[in-house]
Amino acid sequence: MADNPLRLKSIHHVELWVGNAKQAAYYYRHAFGFSQFAYAGLETGRRDATSYALQQGKARLVLTTPMAPDDPINDHIRLHGDGVRDIAFHVDDADAAFREAVARGAQPVSEPVDRTDGSGSIRHAAIATYGHTIHSFISYRDYAGPFLPGYVGKDAPGREAGLLRIDHMVGNVELGRMNSWADWYSRVLGFSRYISFDDKDISTEYSALMSIVMSDDSFAIKFPINEPAAGKKKSQIEEYLDFYRGPGVQHIALLTTDIVATVRTLRANGVEFLRVPDSYYDVLGARVGAIDEAFEVVRDLGLLVDRDEEGYLLQLFTKPVEDRPTLFFEIIQRKGSRGFGKGNFRALFESIEREQALRGNL
Ligand code: FE2
Repeated sequence: MADNPLRLKSIHHVELWVGNAKQAAYYYRHAFGFSQFAYAGLETGRRDATSYALQQGKARLVLTTPMAPDDPINDHIRLHGDGVRDIAFHVDDADAAFREAVARGAQPVSEPVDRTDGSGSIRHAAIATYGHTIHSFISYRDYAGPFLPGYVGKDAPGREAGLLRIDHMVGNVELGRMNSWADWYSRVLGFSRYISFDDKDISTEYSALMSIVMSDDSFAIKFPINEPAAGKKKSQIEEYLDFYRGPGVQHIALLTTDIVATVRTLRANGVEFLRVPDSYYDVLGARVGAIDEAFEVVRDLGLLVDRDEEGYLLQLFTKPVEDRPTLFFEIIQRKGSRGFGKGNFRALFESIEREQALRGNL
């Protein structure tokens, strides 16, 4: 059992750097059901960038766009398109977390500083992880405002879909780098290897991937790390790496306790999901046995089901949420299973490959 050397408490928020945060905020509110609760921009005295803070359950997204052409955020957007910049942690003590992480070999990005406004202060620091992705450390002093210093409360409701929190976040890294990044999460953050998949678990005729799931000691923060594996044609991980121009966050999995209601809402909101072949449902009952949900509903909504020794899970994956085939989302409900849907990999990858073929990338 690992300890918690950085005293991580939770994922505080996930920040995406995007080309047009105003429009992205509208999409995440109207399609995914996040509600905006805070804002920082020209009207609040912030001149360099505009940020929207959105929340659904405990999952918080921040969408940020720079205002000036020479802002370094533009380098990230030019290279990667819209994508995740920061998986920020709430910690006991940002100074201690940063010191310990750097002592354990992390590359510093931002030294600890106070961030202050009329509502009080927080401490902030950051380290680098794979690609241009970072982990911020945030600890609270006396801050009593809506989100973080610099933000004002500004509500704009979304079409709530019952999403509760981030279940896991997956990083894609280059061929041959999965083990070293898994070791990095072990050495720097004190995470343990929770489960791993190799190309025998996850391969189709054309493409394969390998994955190691790293988790904190409470299993609340889970970060699978993927790398491509050899196949006849380009794997989905290679396609991601080509279009993201390097390693980065591949998907964010959001937890619900009623996936039928959640996916009904998301579909009505216009979220596009991957669809497995109908043949998947011909053998589903034999593969997973009895489940609480009505089989016809599961099939009509296109939900995927997997069972292991502990129970079962239901999941569904969106198509990429940008024009580049990069970041996508997963909706997941756990009914005892702590797995990742290994039994669905083949059907899922075949449907991903159909999409890749349509994009001319297989
Ligand atoms: Fe996942």
